[in-house]
Amino acid sequence: MEFLIEAAGLAKNYPGRAQPAVADLNLRVAAGEIFGFLGPNGAGKTTTIRMLAGILRPDGGRVRVAGVDLSRDPVAAKARLGYVPDEPALYERLTGAEHLNFLGDVYGVDRATRARRGGELARRLELADSLGMAIGGYSRGMRQKLAIIGALLHDPAVLFLDEPLVGLDPKAARHLKDLLRELTAAGRAVFFSTHGLEVAQGLCDRVAIIDAGRLIAEGTPEELGATPERAGSLEELFLRLTGGQDR
Ligand SMILES: Nc1ncnc2c1ncn2[C@@H]1O[C@H](COP(=O)(O)OP(=O)(O)OP(=O)(O)O)[C@@H](O)[C@H]1O
Ligand SMILES: [Mg+2]
Repeated sequence: MEFLIEAAGLAKNYPGRAQPAVADLNLRVAAGEIFGFLGPNGAGKTTTIRMLAGILRPDGGRVRVAGVDLSRDPVAAKARLGYVPDEPALYERLTGAEHLNFLGDVYGVDRATRARRGGELARRLELADSLGMAIGGYSRGMRQKLAIIGALLHDPAVLFLDEPLVGLDPKAARHLKDLLRELTAAGRAVFFSTHGLEVAQGLCDRVAIIDAGRLIAEGTPEELGATPERAGSLEELFLRLTGGQDR
């Protein structure tokens, strides 16, 4: 099996905090998989994603993206991944189109390809009519869509998204879910964090639950007790494992 995301012994301690934000995290995501990353507020999801995407340096452990070691060859590894942060930082004065052009330059995507791919994604996410507008005038959902398009412009093997459904309307959320399925059908890997347990149950090939920086469950939704007939079963497991309910 070809693993596009491999994390081994990943650890992060923020200065001044007694507990590690992430401790000895091990996971692998194969080509063709949508992997859902679940956990309570403050569990370490964003910290993990930032380390996997090469934004935050781990204190320990290794990350490989599409077979490339992130710390040894960060440029090559980052060329193979796309990252949609929870709160995209965008240049307010640029238009959406200028922002995508900037990213196209950074990632070395030729003009014809960026116009074709960016245009198609913008049409699908219904942002095409707003690409000429300054980002300062974008709504939260529009920013989210632009960040998603930008992360896919260079056709990465791996896409990381941090709570991508927050702020998207139901139609845009559907478009995004379809898009993620198409990416994995084409052999890519998708890793996203979410608080939407029903989405995770319905969309993900595998999920993991992190709590206080440690993985406490991992498997297919079915392995974790979720079946189509038992809607809400992942929620039960989550609440039981993370102590969100009387035990
Ligand atoms: N820059 C930082 N400096 C210090 N501590 C941090 C920093 N960022 C995160 N933390 C701490 O690390 C832990 C994990 O935070 P993280 O943002 O990774 O959680 P999360 O699972 O993404 O939560 P949420 O569901 O609220 O987004 C928390 O205890 C948080 O307080
Ligand atoms: Mg977070």
